[in-house]
Amino acid sequence: MTSHNLSGIKRDEKGRNIQVVVRCRPFNTVERKSSYGIIDCDTNRKEVLVRTGGVNDKSSRKAYTFDMVFGPAAKQIDVYRSVVCPILDEVIMGYNCTVFAYGQTGTGKTFTMEGERSPNEQFTWEEDPLAGIIPRTLHQIFEKLSENGTEFSVKVSLLEIYNEELFDLLSPTEDVNERLQLFDDPRNKRGVVVKGLEEVTVHNKDEVYQILERGSAKRRTASTLMNAYSSRSHSVFSVTIHMKEITLDGEELVKIGKLNLVDLAGSENIGRSGAVDKRAREAGNINQSLLTLGRVITALVEKRPHVPYRESKLTRILQDSLGGRTKTSIIATVSPSSSNLEETLSTLEYASRAKNIMNKPEVNQKLTKRTLIKEYTEEIERLKRDLAATRDKNGVYLSTENYESMMSQITAHEENVSEYTDKIAVMEEELKKVTELFVDSKTKLEQCTVDLDEKQQRLQETSQNLQQTKEKLDQEVFVSLELTT
Ligand SMILES: Nc1ncnc2c1ncn2[C@@H]1O[C@H](COP(=O)(O)OP(=O)(O)OP(=O)(O)O)[C@@H](O)[C@H]1O
Ligand SMILES: [Mg+2]
Repeated sequence: MTSHNLSGIKRDEKGRNIQVVVRCRPFNTVERKSSYGIIDCDTNRKEVLVRTGGVNDKSSRKAYTFDMVFGPAAKQIDVYRSVVCPILDEVIMGYNCTVFAYGQTGTGKTFTMEGERSPNEQFTWEEDPLAGIIPRTLHQIFEKLSENGTEFSVKVSLLEIYNEELFDLLSPTEDVNERLQLFDDPRNKRGVVVKGLEEVTVHNKDEVYQILERGSAKRRTASTLMNAYSSRSHSVFSVTIHMKEITLDGEELVKIGKLNLVDLAGSENIGRSGAVDKRAREAGNINQSLLTLGRVITALVEKRPHVPYRESKLTRILQDSLGGRTKTSIIATVSPSSSNLEETLSTLEYASRAKNIMNKPEVNQKLTKRTLIKEYTEEIERLKRDLAATRDKNGVYLSTENYESMMSQITAHEENVSEYTDKIAVMEEELKKVTELFVDSKTKLEQCTVDLDEKQQRLQETSQNLQQTKEKLDQEVFVSLELTT
């Protein structure tokens, strides 16, 4: 449900900039051997320093400032506490919030969003220090809301965009090839509906891990079917919380908060301006959604009148997170190594530009029981109409009587048809004969015409001859007469 009837709107007075934080991962084994460090993270000054001058030049540096900076030593819990905890509080207050992870392949987007399991089943998923934002958030939702005695429900969905096609990683079907369709939400100008996207209700925190595992299993299958799936796909994990509230005069209200956790495709190939790199474009390696995200950011930062949200699936789905009423944060991830200097600078430039985007966060309108029932009734009506439409498409439901009368009509028609077909065959046969006769006669006629022409020609020649002979004869008669006289 996205459109909510009014029951005390609260608006934030001012716009709010998108919050941008940077996380630099530790060296991996290969980098440690073959490269040197170029990143300094100053957590207090919220600054990232990049050495840009090569191995012997320690003075050429570029500095970038963000809302928060996490160095290689930062733990999952640190990122969760500083970045996500306050966001979750806002979701519980009834805001929509979005967290994007942006960065080059292999810099820790998935590590940050989902996290990993420590080896040897050393910890339960709830205690694992490697757990990322998604499991921690779900766990915390149950802890926080149970603690204060709120009646609530939690639903999650996991949507992935690969090559501009939508896949549902939580759908109950085995098929990972099934694509979902995107429609504009008729009830909400800035919203879209992903038709058929599974929203799984999470009843308690013990179910969380099992649901996440289901998503991971499907993702593994997708990875074997689609080229470079993990680094080219965008993953949108959404949690929707419905919470019951009772007003002072005893009226029941439902408060809704939504959190989108987005793990973007690897940002390599995106140039420093946010446009697709020329070489990548030539290689046909364009990620439409990532490209459009860059363009949307540019349009918002430059306050252009047209923002191209509609040009990609990702920006359509997350339109409200970019310049809309959602509270948005970006976690930009970078590698510490000199071998990734160019990509790291690109990511930091991109992230710096995104800081200038202003959103106007607005708390979702609370629903009274009556409006909620009204919305559900409307939804049921819509579903009924859908069902009717589906029936019309797939099969027709008739009474037996109607069916039999239609069948006897069909049989009669079929008999007629075969009778006419026979007649047509006979007539065609006749036509064929007549045509042959005609062609024959025509040929003969043509022959006669030719003959006639020839004879006329000869006649003409003979007449001429006759004329000449006559003239000669006349002359000779004349001459002989002259001679005899
Ligand atoms: N902060 C970190 N601490 C420890 N290890 C990390 C950290 N960040 C990333 N790693 C490790 O780096 C590797 C790559 O990380 P990850 O898979 O999260 O990258 P990614 O940005 O999601 O890449 P892709 O775009 O290809 O999906 C993983 O093996 C992960 O364990
Ligand atoms: Mg990843």
